[in-house]
Amino acid sequence: MAFNHKHLIDIREYSADDIMLLLETAQRFKQINERRIKKVPTLKGFTVVNMFNEPSTRTRSSFEIAEKRLSCDVLNFGGSSTSSVKGESLTDTVETLCSYKIDMIVVRDKHAGVPRKIADTVDAHVIDAGDGKHQHPTQALLDLYSIWQQFGHIEGLRVGIVGDISHSRVCGSLIPSLKTLGAHVTIIAPPTLIPLNPEVLGVDEVSLKLDEVLPSLDVVYMLRIQRERLEGAPFPSLREYHMLFGLTKERDALMKPEAIICHPGPINRGVELDSYMADNPARSVILDQVYAGVLVRMAALYLLLGGNEQ
Ligand code: CP
Repeated sequence: MAFNHKHLIDIREYSADDIMLLLETAQRFKQINERRIKKVPTLKGFTVVNMFNEPSTRTRSSFEIAEKRLSCDVLNFGGSSTSSVKGESLTDTVETLCSYKIDMIVVRDKHAGVPRKIADTVDAHVIDAGDGKHQHPTQALLDLYSIWQQFGHIEGLRVGIVGDISHSRVCGSLIPSLKTLGAHVTIIAPPTLIPLNPEVLGVDEVSLKLDEVLPSLDVVYMLRIQRERLEGAPFPSLREYHMLFGLTKERDALMKPEAIICHPGPINRGVELDSYMADNPARSVILDQVYAGVLVRMAALYLLLGGNEQ
């Protein structure tokens, strides 16, 4: 199947076939990740710059592992150790990096739109590793992969996304890609964490009451409460939020027997969900999502850099 994308910046530019090709390619890379020697020469000679200007554990580490397992040369760059603190502009920074004849920039930034700006400035491939409140496309891919592995399909599944919808770049990519693959999507949150016009998100339903929706869901996707991005006081206390919207041992009884729990991480234990639910082996796929991060990022690097054409 043809894959005609240079960048992975906006998942809405990807068709159902494109997304399924990425997931199926990730599935093939799973076999490599389960060998004793987990490295292949597929992208030997390609140079990737990981430019992380905002903190990250999962995305940064899994990109680096994915790149190294595909034999890319990797430069980790960004944050307060760069000349951006001396006033160097984004354009000058990426033009400088591209003078080294690099092939790809993986970028995380607190400002929405930075990955697109880089793609418009230089000739390298760009992957958005999370930009402001905008998008996080490889997070959506690893979420889709984890759900697909559990159910064998995504079409027709009822997915509830719970929590901080307004500030979530995870939602920015997950909702449209779930809709592209035919899932039914409900967002569940206090009104202060839902955008004023939720219809622009393209969801099927909006609910203010977790307990009413929980029994119908196949996938319960808990979003992190982003304390660093909350403005004002959208709810009285984290304790009250946990009481009304937290996934607790008591709420386990409301869920379908086969329903699963996802979370992009990092978890605020005792806020979005309690430890009983976060660590529940029958329901939680949170660590499967982390592993899927390596697989889908290998797939994205491989397809964007034309590995399938070699
Ligand atoms: N889910 C996610 O993006 O986690 P990190 O911020 O740790 O990369």
